Amino acid sequence: MRAYVVTKLVHPSQLKLVDDAPEPEATGEEIVVDVYSSALNFFDILQAQGKYQIKPPFPFTLGAEFAGKVAKGSPIPKGCPYKSGDRIFGSTQGCFADKVAVKWQATNRLPDNLTFDQGAGLYITWPTSYEALVGRAELKPGESVLINAAAGGVGIAAVQLAKALGATVIAAAGSQAKLDICKTYGGADYTVNYTAQDWQKEVLRITSGRGVDVVYDPVGRIAESLKCIAFKGRALVIGFAAGQIEKLPLNIVLLKNISVMGLHWGLYTHKESSRIPVVWEELLGLFASGRIKPIIYDKIFSLDEVTVGLDALERRQTWGKAIVRVKDEKQMVQTKL
Ligand SMILES: NC(=O)c1ccc[n+]([C@@H]2O[C@H](COP(=O)([O-])OP(=O)(O)OC[C@H]3O[C@@H](n4cnc5c(N)ncnc54)[C@H](OP(=O)(O)O)[C@@H]3O)[C@@H](O)[C@H]2O)c1
Repeated sequence: MRAYVVTKLVHPSQLKLVDDAPEPEATGEEIVVDVYSSALNFFDILQAQGKYQIKPPFPFTLGAEFAGKVAKGSPIPKGCPYKSGDRIFGSTQGCFADKVAVKWQATNRLPDNLTFDQGAGLYITWPTSYEALVGRAELKPGESVLINAAAGGVGIAAVQLAKALGATVIAAAGSQAKLDICKTYGGADYTVNYTAQDWQKEVLRITSGRGVDVVYDPVGRIAESLKCIAFKGRALVIGFAAGQIEKLPLNIVLLKNISVMGLHWGLYTHKESSRIPVVWEELLGLFASGRIKPIIYDKIFSLDEVTVGLDALERRQTWGKAIVRVKDEKQMVQTKL
């Protein structure tokens, strides 16, 4: 089968698609899935180079999120609710490939109103933003939230979720085109270009000098964002897309009476697995109601264009979730006919 197999640490631009990778075998609680679409994540770029916290042994296949169908002949472990052909989405190592083996508990049924392309980028991105805003910052209706990198994968999800929770959303991003995306697709109330000098003054103006109740930051821009946080505000550390692990002077935390809190969604599997279905029930309800919807970058990459897509991600050219279409469902139907 086709797969991006990593045999040594390299920049993803040097990866090659092989067409003779061995098909995955399901063991224990795993099922085999025919991957139709996968999603690109910023951490794929880091993982290929050994700079991400999850470091699988060699050889490993890159890619962490997928949507697809339970493969014909896949084992169905006890308790697994699926049958062959069911449409699902989920997360496991090795999604830039034709097939993947995944623990069935790390998947969900794909809602009927979502395509594989829309479903491929849900599994990590959306619960990260949901749990950050709801479980950690406890965002309330009527509060204000500043979302950095608001047009990016986790950012645009956070914008929509904060709106659905009744908050006033100030979306910050690095270009006018991305700010337009935040308004048009995310429904942000206000936008601010955080590459402008003294951009925080604009946030203070919008909030009548008070500052925002919550800062959501996947970039490494917490310190500068604290210039426009409110008394008793909460700052969420989501990631470091700018490439540096940010250091923070703690006197600001004290002087402003604020909290700085982290959210690492992957840790819930080990530390609080009971929370995962609760979060998904909420999210799937919001998707079904149409109050939130997956936002996909307008160029869909093919499997042999994964390196092109990761390059676009690294150059900050993409918005929403960048998607790789591994198999075209319509073509598969025609091939069968
Ligand atoms: N905590 C968790 O559980 C969790 C889960 C998923 C992802 N994450 C982390 O969240 C971060 C964002 O992930 P994502 O999937 O949303 O990524 P993404 O779609 O690529 O968005 C990242 C955004 O960061 C901004 N950025 C600022 N400086 C950048 C730089 N030097 N290089 C690249 N981008 C830069 C860009 O927006 P502008 O051009 O507008 O500045 C870019 O669009 C990553 O660090 C990822 O590891 C954390």
